[in-house]
Amino acid sequence: MATVALQNISKSFDDTQVLNNINLSIEDREFIVFVGPSGCGKTTLLRIIAGLEEASEGQIIIDGEDVSSAHPVDRGISMVFQSYALYPHLSVFENIAFPLRVAKVPEAELNQRVEHAANILQLTNRLQHKPGQLSGGQRQRVAIGRSIVRNPKVFLFDEPLSNLDAALRGDMRVELASLHQDLNATMIYVTHDQVEAMTMADKIVVINGGNVEQFGTPMELYHHPETQFVAGFIGQPNMNFISSTRTASTATNCSIKADGIGALTLPVSSCVGKEGDSLCLGIRPEDLSLTSSGQGFEMQVKVLERLGGSAIAYGTINSQVSGEQSFKAVLPGDVQVSPGQHIHLQVNPDKCHLFTSQGDAMHRLKAEV
Ligand SMILES: Nc1ncnc2c1ncn2[C@@H]1O[C@H](COP(=O)(O)OP(=O)(O)O)[C@@H](O)[C@H]1O
Ligand SMILES: [Mg+2]
Repeated sequence: MATVALQNISKSFDDTQVLNNINLSIEDREFIVFVGPSGCGKTTLLRIIAGLEEASEGQIIIDGEDVSSAHPVDRGISMVFQSYALYPHLSVFENIAFPLRVAKVPEAELNQRVEHAANILQLTNRLQHKPGQLSGGQRQRVAIGRSIVRNPKVFLFDEPLSNLDAALRGDMRVELASLHQDLNATMIYVTHDQVEAMTMADKIVVINGGNVEQFGTPMELYHHPETQFVAGFIGQPNMNFISSTRTASTATNCSIKADGIGALTLPVSSCVGKEGDSLCLGIRPEDLSLTSSGQGFEMQVKVLERLGGSAIAYGTINSQVSGEQSFKAVLPGDVQVSPGQHIHLQVNPDKCHLFTSQGDAMHRLKAEV
């Protein structure tokens, strides 16, 4: 198995720069997820690692060896795509065996490697079927089997679950996580879906406009987003952002006035900017709680989405700047609230996030010192 290092990777197509100076160190056997909005450069970065695309600048190091100019087949990687092109006229066995046939692997070894992969993927009793006789999830597993038989050092996945329906995607997430444990392999997985990133990754790389916004464990990104972009992208339902002004500070805290919420005092570890600065306050919907009338601040509920164990209230708070500002809160599952009703919410200042007008949080500013 293998480590992967990306050093100063940049990529331009003609005049358009799509990746800007990407540096990453991926440990042996880690499950890394590249996540970001459509068009941010995820596929391009994966294709550069695979050798299907050439970087304009920078190096790819696999297991300590510079493979930047190596041919894709010599890099010890294997890539599974969103559109898993199986050969419809070949059996599942032959589809999985295909790369071994091309490499002229002897029959006995070929049989053994295909059976091993089929066993891991629970396809043993499907080996004689044709792809047309399989479900979407089984077809995707055949495509993964074709990767496994090659014994790659690094597995690359580009949105492999996007063509599956929601229930199957949930099942396949679990299967892929368990496959990672069985194979003990280094895996790099690309998705635009932050839920896939949070649930499967050892570490997440959030990419935005060709830049790495943050690299860390799912819970580091959740609790300590370095930028407003990461804060808004990771977590579901996504974070509320409220315009605020910094009013005062002491050695241990800072006070802000948050539009539609009121005065708050935050611990110094999350304070950015200086007195008088316009800042952005971030509050996760699950970090709010109901309080009695006359306390906290008021939200008008427009829609209540019941999930069973919890409920999400969507509505507005009274903003002095924009009149009404949309807002959401996670409430107890059996909460008695109807659309149109006003509720009172309180904020836990220890769980608030503060961003400068450039979108940086304390953690980013500290990292840059
Ligand atoms: N072969 C290409 N030629 C020109 N532009 C490209 C090419 N491939 C990708 N791009 C552009 O690079 C950007 C990043 O694309 P991509 O890596 O596919 O994004 P993602 O996978 O995150 O959706 C997009 O703006 C896309 O249009
Ligand atoms: Mg893509």
